[in-house]
Amino acid sequence: MRIGVLHGPNLNLLGSREPEHYGSTSLRDIDAALAALAVELGVEVETFQSNHEGELVDRVQDRSAAVDGWLVNAAGLTHTSVALRDALVAGERPLVEVHLSNPWAREPFRHTSLLTDVAIGIVSGFRADSYRFALQGLVARLRERS
Ligand code: DQA
Repeated sequence: MRIGVLHGPNLNLLGSREPEHYGSTSLRDIDAALAALAVELGVEVETFQSNHEGELVDRVQDRSAAVDGWLVNAAGLTHTSVALRDALVAGERPLVEVHLSNPWAREPFRHTSLLTDVAIGIVSGFRADSYRFALQGLVARLRERS
């Protein structure tokens, strides 16, 4: 089983970016924790970060056929990107929406997500651990189906 991970704009700055919302773990450490958990779970993960909407869309188009599901932290694009949502729907793979913070406890413009209604679940608010919980949940759901 192979899981694709998408990290959206500004998540390359994790570690130093607004630690009161996102904690102090770097993206590199998050990816390393996912890789270690993937070994425990017996799955493969492939991670991708971009600050560019079109690159994320290209990645979904390129890799959806190769992955069994997606973990998606679209960051600011969560609240704006019809294009990323459309690419994920077209790719026909289950996705889990991930956030380090809880956007619904923050500014009103973060309360709308264009991904939630096409996701099988959401993990939000557990800082770096959100990704690990999301990977466990997605793999469990995929195994139920097979
Ligand atoms: C975020 C929440 C978004 O509102 C924000 O734009 C981000 C990160 C999170 O992980 O908490 O960049 O997706």
